[in-house]
Amino acid sequence: MKKAKIAIIGNGSISHVHMAAYKKLENVEIVANCDINEKRAKEYAERYGIPHTYTDYNEMLKREELDGVSVCTWNNVHAPASIAALNAGVNVLCEKPLAMNAEQAQEMVDTAKKNKKLLMVGFVRRFGMNTKVLKDRIEQGELGQIYYAKTGCIRRVGNPGGWFSDKKRSGGGPLIDLGVHMIDLVRYLMGKPKAVSVMGSTYSLVGPRSNIKGIYQYKSADYSDYNDVEDFAVGFVKFDNGATLVVENSWTQHIKKDYLYLEIYGSKAGATMEPELEIFSEKNDFLTDEKPVLEPAFVDFQHNFDKEIAHFVDCILNGTPCISPGEDGVELMKILDAIYKSAETGHEVMVG
Ligand SMILES: NC(=O)c1ccc[n+]([C@@H]2O[C@H](COP(=O)([O-])OP(=O)(O)OC[C@H]3O[C@@H](n4cnc5c(N)ncnc54)[C@H](O)[C@@H]3O)[C@@H](O)[C@H]2O)c1
Repeated sequence: MKKAKIAIIGNGSISHVHMAAYKKLENVEIVANCDINEKRAKEYAERYGIPHTYTDYNEMLKREELDGVSVCTWNNVHAPASIAALNAGVNVLCEKPLAMNAEQAQEMVDTAKKNKKLLMVGFVRRFGMNTKVLKDRIEQGELGQIYYAKTGCIRRVGNPGGWFSDKKRSGGGPLIDLGVHMIDLVRYLMGKPKAVSVMGSTYSLVGPRSNIKGIYQYKSADYSDYNDVEDFAVGFVKFDNGATLVVENSWTQHIKKDYLYLEIYGSKAGATMEPELEIFSEKNDFLTDEKPVLEPAFVDFQHNFDKEIAHFVDCILNGTPCISPGEDGVELMKILDAIYKSAETGHEVMVG
């Protein structure tokens, strides 16, 4: 059996979820790992029995014969690490967001094309079974013409700190971190319309509030309380299929409870995907609510990563068309750039 030789660049939190998924695949051999934090890289190698460990991905790419890499670094390293890998002839699965902005993301896609290698973006929620159920129903025309979606991921106190809240390394706050998933899901469900115009606002009035006691606060691996990103962002996006999206995300906000929602409305039916999958329509002059039955294990975090990573390996080994290509990461970055630009200028931004 041909095995894909894989390396992991960036050995923090999410890389463990990638590794758990790779470990389930017989057609994968993890040959190397790399992190600028040498202690973390060595511990990672020891834990997973990885033979070669590096602190410089360029050195790793020079020495190792690789078929693919997972890029699991801070956001500002996504583009340089992916471009270096693609230029070394290696296929890339890059975590979301694809890059810090659309220009960088486009350069990544161009580099993949030039080298005839795969650039896949980690839009992991596309691999959930709830997404599949709803997407199939939409494709079969059950929702009719989709005209409106609203979505958000709202946290009361949930700024992870460290690189996440340092704009030079993250590119922004909850919009680029959480909003990227929500906006991508809506685009994916709608059949990937392109954004034509965007209005957005961001606010940084509440602050990260790491002082709050009495609750569990998630803090990133290399925590510091430096913060120069937004607390909250809201966007209003018009697509070329005529549909409108309203998206809001926060890391810190004076609300009662954290919540996640995704609602999508069509001429024949509406649906929620979060907090749970439900479809609302009418039949024989009666309103009907329908709830597809899904085992929690088929929509959980690790399940989605297992599917995403199995798909990446399948694309590499068998040339299967990628369902989450880099091009989609570019379209998403255009929307994020436009929300940030509109927030800065106070005006509507046209998306090219
Ligand atoms: N798909 C998802 O649902 C999901 C969830 C969490 C995180 N992520 C994404 O994964 C990425 C990593 O997030 P995390 O939570 O694991 O962060 P983390 O801070 O836990 O890990 C990031 C690691 O990257 C390393 N790193 C930084 N620069 C590097 C370089 N030049 N070369 C090698 N290693 C380098 C850091 O030392 C750190 O160990 C982010 O882009 C984040 O947006 C995605």
